[in-house]
Amino acid sequence: MRLAILLSGRGSNFAAIQEAIANRKLDAQIVCVISNRPDAAGLARARELRLSAHVIDHRQYPTREGHEEDVLRVLAEAEPDFICLAGYMRRLSPAFVAAYPHRILNIHPSLLPAFPGVDAQAQALAYGVKVSGCTVHFVDENLDAGPIIVQRAVEVRNDDSAETLSARILEQEHIAYVEALAKLQTRKWRIEGRRVIFE
Ligand code: GAR
Repeated sequence: MRLAILLSGRGSNFAAIQEAIANRKLDAQIVCVISNRPDAAGLARARELRLSAHVIDHRQYPTREGHEEDVLRVLAEAEPDFICLAGYMRRLSPAFVAAYPHRILNIHPSLLPAFPGVDAQAQALAYGVKVSGCTVHFVDENLDAGPIIVQRAVEVRNDDSAETLSARILEQEHIAYVEALAKLQTRKWRIEGRRVIFE
């Protein structure tokens, strides 16, 4: 299974996927890592690992289309089976999504459809939910909205801050992303409407 990673920052989800591959828990290879930020820690890690690492800095492009064209060009050369958004903080245009139907995955730090968008963990705390978690889903043209592949729940504690809740959700994110990829790799799944059905 050939994986492309798109990230913007820390890259701990990328690291979790990479470690699962290194530890033979996931039979895959990372064929390219693309960051829209030159200072992303995840990009530095990709370079240390001697992976095919690319900076495609959106600030250097006058238009979203121009930036996406270059990302799509790198992806086309890498020929990934799946594209993993791992803290990639840019929305993809409908044309980008249409180029890889049901082949782009995202991870989001809430139980979608609750709390899409930024600061999902702080949104969950402010709302007062007792359970939150994370979601790995296919990307469609809407924000944090595509068919759900895996979710993992995390209890919200009385003394949680956004930081402590985020840290516990992040532990589950790392498990969930690897689990989602392993499940997709079986090929024993299909999509019915919004539902991803595993056999
Ligand atoms: C993760 O918590 C991920 O769920 C979140 O950004 C963080 C990236 O961490 N993504 C979103 O909020 C997307 N809407 P990482 O760079 O350490 O993987």
